[in-house]
Amino acid sequence: MNAAVDAALEAIAAATDSAALKAVRSAHAGEASPLAALNGSLRSVPNDQKAALGKLVGQARGRVAKALGAREDEIIAAETEARLAAETIDVTAVPLRRSVGARHPLTLLQDRVSDIFVGMGWEIAEGPEVESEWFNFDALNFDADHPARAMQDTFFVDPLESHLVLRTHTSPVQVRSLLERELPVYVLAPGRVYRTDELDATHTPVFMQFEGLAVDKGLTMAHLRGTLDHFVKSVFGDDAKVRLRPSYFPFTEPSAELDFWHPTFKDGPRWIEWGGCGMINPNVLRSAGIDPDVYSGFAFGMGVERGLMLRDGVQDMREMVEGDVRFSQQFGMVV
Ligand code: DAH
Repeated sequence: MNAAVDAALEAIAAATDSAALKAVRSAHAGEASPLAALNGSLRSVPNDQKAALGKLVGQARGRVAKALGAREDEIIAAETEARLAAETIDVTAVPLRRSVGARHPLTLLQDRVSDIFVGMGWEIAEGPEVESEWFNFDALNFDADHPARAMQDTFFVDPLESHLVLRTHTSPVQVRSLLERELPVYVLAPGRVYRTDELDATHTPVFMQFEGLAVDKGLTMAHLRGTLDHFVKSVFGDDAKVRLRPSYFPFTEPSAELDFWHPTFKDGPRWIEWGGCGMINPNVLRSAGIDPDVYSGFAFGMGVERGLMLRDGVQDMREMVEGDVRFSQQFGMVV
């Protein structure tokens, strides 16, 4: 009997996992175990010895059962600990993060410009990039023989009789907005425009402009100046200011080139040319069915690429169109 107990205790101590312990349990404490057999044999023991022997067998089985229980507790504790260790998640670990790109600085600048005008209560307007010649030229008071209509500047869409062009500027959105909206109108129209230029350091056949248009009763050039002044200060800082130089555009009268004082320009502070503006030509108001004796307005148009070149010192237009993500990443907004 002692040998059976010793063998059981030895096997219990040697079991290192639940499966092994289960096998030990059935071999040394199960129905077919030596101790169970001993227990069974008590039936044939003479009555006067039964109690004493029964007690011994009971004690032996008790020792084995106790050892099994203790070993089981140990194994379960060890196995739980091992499982918890295996499932540990390091919440402070730096995740593997693949960057998918960056927002393009032209888009960022365009959004910034839009935000400034939305902040003044203006609305954002849009028009098609494939535009009818009428909106792109006629409604804007371009003569039939105006040089801007020439084949060498404008992409005409086949067939010519369709009278469709790739819009050469965002100004056609002026007339569209006036036809679509109730007066007064205060809109900013950012968007892509096209001209038949070769791609080089200072030209690209596709570029971006934003067009401003305000039509209301009693608007004067002072409102135009004030608006532009606020705008350039918002983009270039409080020391920036605006200067208007007389110029000519068919759709404004009077017309002006827009210069602004760039306080931190790398060559030192100086006047820099950035777009055109003026009071809307009465003919344009008439194209949109508006009485120029009752309403007046102003408009302006600027290039986003040029804005980026001036603000951030980008030297070469090609960098803006090539799509190298490293260029965009320099401007932040990496996603
Ligand atoms: N559309 C002109 C261009 O692309 C820019 C421009 C000039 C827009 C004067 C205007 C304006 O609204 O008033 O060259």
